[in-house]
Amino acid sequence: MCGIVGYVGPKSAQGVVVEGLRRLEYRGYDSAGIALVADGVIASAKRAGKLANLEKAIAEAPLAGSTTGIGHTRWATHGAPNDVNAHPHPGRTGRVALVHNGIIENFVTLRAELEDAGHELASETDTEVVSHLLENEVLAGADLTTAMQRVCRRLEGAFTLVAVDGLDASRVVAARRNSPLVVGLGEGENFLGSDVAAFIEHTRDAMELGQDQVVTITTAGVSVTGFDGAPAEGRRYHVDWDLSAAEKDGHDWFMRKEIHEQPRAVADSLLGRRTASGELQLDEVRISDEDLREIDKVIIIACGTSFYAGMVAKYAIEHWTRIPVEVELASEFRYRDPILTHSTLVVAISQSGETADTLQAIRHARAQRAWVLAICNTNGSTIPRESDAVIYTHAGPEIGVASTKGFLTQLVACYLLALYLAQIKGTRYGEEIADVLDQLESMPDHIQAVLDQREAVYELARQHVDTRSVLFLGRHAGYPVALEGALKLKELAYLHAEGFAAGELKHGPIALIEQGMPVLCVVPPKGRDQLHGKMLSGIQEVRARGARTICLAEAGDETIRPYADELIPLPRVPTLLQPLVAVVPLQLFACELASVMGHDVDQPRNLAKSVTVE
Ligand code: G6P
Repeated sequence: MCGIVGYVGPKSAQGVVVEGLRRLEYRGYDSAGIALVADGVIASAKRAGKLANLEKAIAEAPLAGSTTGIGHTRWATHGAPNDVNAHPHPGRTGRVALVHNGIIENFVTLRAELEDAGHELASETDTEVVSHLLENEVLAGADLTTAMQRVCRRLEGAFTLVAVDGLDASRVVAARRNSPLVVGLGEGENFLGSDVAAFIEHTRDAMELGQDQVVTITTAGVSVTGFDGAPAEGRRYHVDWDLSAAEKDGHDWFMRKEIHEQPRAVADSLLGRRTASGELQLDEVRISDEDLREIDKVIIIACGTSFYAGMVAKYAIEHWTRIPVEVELASEFRYRDPILTHSTLVVAISQSGETADTLQAIRHARAQRAWVLAICNTNGSTIPRESDAVIYTHAGPEIGVASTKGFLTQLVACYLLALYLAQIKGTRYGEEIADVLDQLESMPDHIQAVLDQREAVYELARQHVDTRSVLFLGRHAGYPVALEGALKLKELAYLHAEGFAAGELKHGPIALIEQGMPVLCVVPPKGRDQLHGKMLSGIQEVRARGARTICLAEAGDETIRPYADELIPLPRVPTLLQPLVAVVPLQLFACELASVMGHDVDQPRNLAKSVTVE
């Protein structure tokens, strides 16, 4: 949700900022802009559309050389994505320029105040109000850092702000409240970014900032204060992935690359989880065993794909621990006045760690004294920082907007959490837990086996270019897989796609079935005979009404053959773990179909990777 870059150092600021924006473009791609401090003035360019439009504009009308600059790639909230609303926004006289991610909630009042004072605002954005306020302070004699502190004290809402002053090339100043910002620490140069991808090719040393802090970067160093001006400290850390992890590695799309990275991502997420004596350990969990033993209810909150990981987690946690689990969309959670006590464990699942709906939900939970455990892929992001405990998934950077390896590694973390709770509560024997861990450790090979059949799945996908509607059916742990398969098609191929619990079909959705309509069916392993039998009945019901059934079923399951127009074999794995393999063909299917339909798979229309507004 908007990408932000800032730079000061010896290099060409234009080069560093544009490159940083390219790596952050997945956060928003409605428009892009850049502002540089050169010869006592600000040189700026901004364009609606993708970054390429901005690059073209700069190539046609080059900006003055500069070593201090800021940039922005936008996902619009206030005002249409056009050139005028694009960031950076200048102040009234053009002395300062500012970029912003988030929403200034009191901007109407502030705008009225400025207009009363004779300011004319060119755009419809909330951001421009802040640039005018900031410039007022600078024109009144404050340096940019002090000006930023003063302005931030007046703002309500969520924001990351990054600004430059045309008369002060020595610094870039930024601030954050409820919105992401990290500092990249270099030698004689420093960087700002919405996340570390913005500067990873220059430095892997980073600093995370706390809430309500202002940071000033110069060539000589970094200084942090509160909004009140009091000195503060950021937390330094080292980023454990490098530039190559953020490149496409020969694939046409980041998403396709990320699908193929899943065996490694799952293996990495399982690393180091067993002690020498064979017990499960989650070293990032900072809630005492005693407190965990008291937990009598788990509430899982998440959005999008992460929500479906939460649905799978419910089956695992309830089965292995007998603790009741609720799964709730983060955006709905606090509005229903949920019952939370000190023995409730709220599990927040978020790949990015920045999703505003999830963040607000955990704040609500903590205010009610519930424990909060985050499952997150992004070190240094806000959600784990505000949680009592965190299980990091080790998927590496996920750039494709539609989540793939993020999802699989979330599933792994959910299984680990369920087993860990079972171990602490004593609801499962040690050897049972060890057995499941063994099974989990064999999953990377199984996932690879599914990937090795990709050509057959791609061929199937290519047959559906003219399809307008696709249904997905699943039962038990296969139900969230069906929902995720449908979401992938919506996100990437812009198709009408819906996932259903197979048993629910006959209560309404079966009316949708038409001759030849593709229905993808996630068939549970045969070990669960009742479940398997019931699923077969559901498949027969749709087939009898003309559906074309594409069945995902375990290899060797001959009973499915008479009902499957197409069969995608899955490795033989336990029912609860089947989502780890069953979702992979659905990812491949959506990626290939969207690709042949000519869509931008990595940056689907209207979406953003990290949604930092509610
Ligand atoms: C956005 C993305 C989805 C993602 C969801 C939750 O909507 O487009 O792919 O599943 O956010 O993101 P999170 O980072 O919290 O897992």
